[in-house]
Amino acid sequence: MITESAGNPAPAEDAVSNVLKWVLLAVAILTFALLGWATAVTYKTAPPQPERFVAANGTVIMTGDDILAGKGGFQRADLMDYGSLYGMGSYYGEDYTASTLVQLGTAVRDGIPRAGGEISFAALSTGEQFAATAAMQRALQGIDLTKPVVVLPGAVADAVTSVRDGVARSFATADPDAGWTPAYSLNPALARQTADFVVYSAITTVARRPGLNWSWTENWPYEPLVANTPTANTFRWTWISFCFTFFSFGLVLFIYQYWLNEPDVGPMDPLLNVFRPMTPSQRRIGKYFLIVAALLLVQIGAGAIMAHSYYDRRSFYGYSINDILPFNFLRDVHVQSPIVWIGLSWIGAGLFSRARNCRRSGSEGTAMAG
Ligand code: HEM
Repeated sequence: MITESAGNPAPAEDAVSNVLKWVLLAVAILTFALLGWATAVTYKTAPPQPERFVAANGTVIMTGDDILAGKGGFQRADLMDYGSLYGMGSYYGEDYTASTLVQLGTAVRDGIPRAGGEISFAALSTGEQFAATAAMQRALQGIDLTKPVVVLPGAVADAVTSVRDGVARSFATADPDAGWTPAYSLNPALARQTADFVVYSAITTVARRPGLNWSWTENWPYEPLVANTPTANTFRWTWISFCFTFFSFGLVLFIYQYWLNEPDVGPMDPLLNVFRPMTPSQRRIGKYFLIVAALLLVQIGAGAIMAHSYYDRRSFYGYSINDILPFNFLRDVHVQSPIVWIGLSWIGAGLFSRARNCRRSGSEGTAMAG
């Protein structure tokens, strides 16, 4: 930085950076206000969690506590780094919410009582299949999550129980073709509660909000089997956000072109013109960058193995890598390590430049000690 005391004139006021400061302030206020508003709306409109789900005969199928414990199980087994929930997580495995929704729809449809008794869905006539599918959709959409105790109709109660037990079993069963390693951190009780949590997430996508004809997730995921089709809101907000994004790009370019795009006539800071020898403090700070480089390599190594797993889920060049480094562990390493190396490189860079300034001001020892 050039200063008056060094005998140079004070730098002319930079009009561009002055305008940008105000733009930054306005954007920060606006976006944080939006963030606060969106958070409040999200909490207000989130699907309620009933105290318990029971069958018509009063048998408890799952409780709110089971669902909460299951959420912990889901996190503990790191399932979001293998598959996804509500579409968020890894694309490698299944979306648990969507796949469970299809299983629920199929199981309820197969379990709807038929006039002729135990006839499989496939054996029904087209008209009867249509009626059974419509009955299944009504039963699932009619689940009222706002009640503290939700009584599930016979076919739904049976379907929820069997799908839940199947999901719990799948957590403990290896599936090499899918690149799935059993979730060793889940004992049978926690696996069942984790399955409760997954089934509950699937129910929220199809159960309708009271008085409305769309679900708690605005009919996400799109699934014709249970009549989940995009709502008017889905179209509206998709296009509003799409247009807003591109409008904002245009606005930034417009502001820059019309008000800010002037040749830079300010005095240049000659700081980077010469590379001076490093100070002893700067050398010591080099250790930070070794760790940064090592972590980046670990991250890229994990990423490379994951990328290979998409091609061959069973092995890594003939070596059964899933047994030692399951995909979700690798993904966890891959997305967490940059948090450390990016943070560390910022700190390292800050200290590195400070260590140089210390020598320039001739008081390295004292400044570093401070
Ligand atoms: C050669 C280098 C890299 C390779 C081969 C690679 C590979 C991958 C693969 C295969 C995934 C998908 C995992 C999944 O199925 O969900 C992924 C996700 C991800 N990678 Fe990388 N990666 C590399 C570098 C990086 C770097 C340098 C960063 C950040 C500094 C990074 C950040 C991420 C993040 C945040 C995700 C999660 C994305 C999401 O879930 O939406 N990757 N990477």
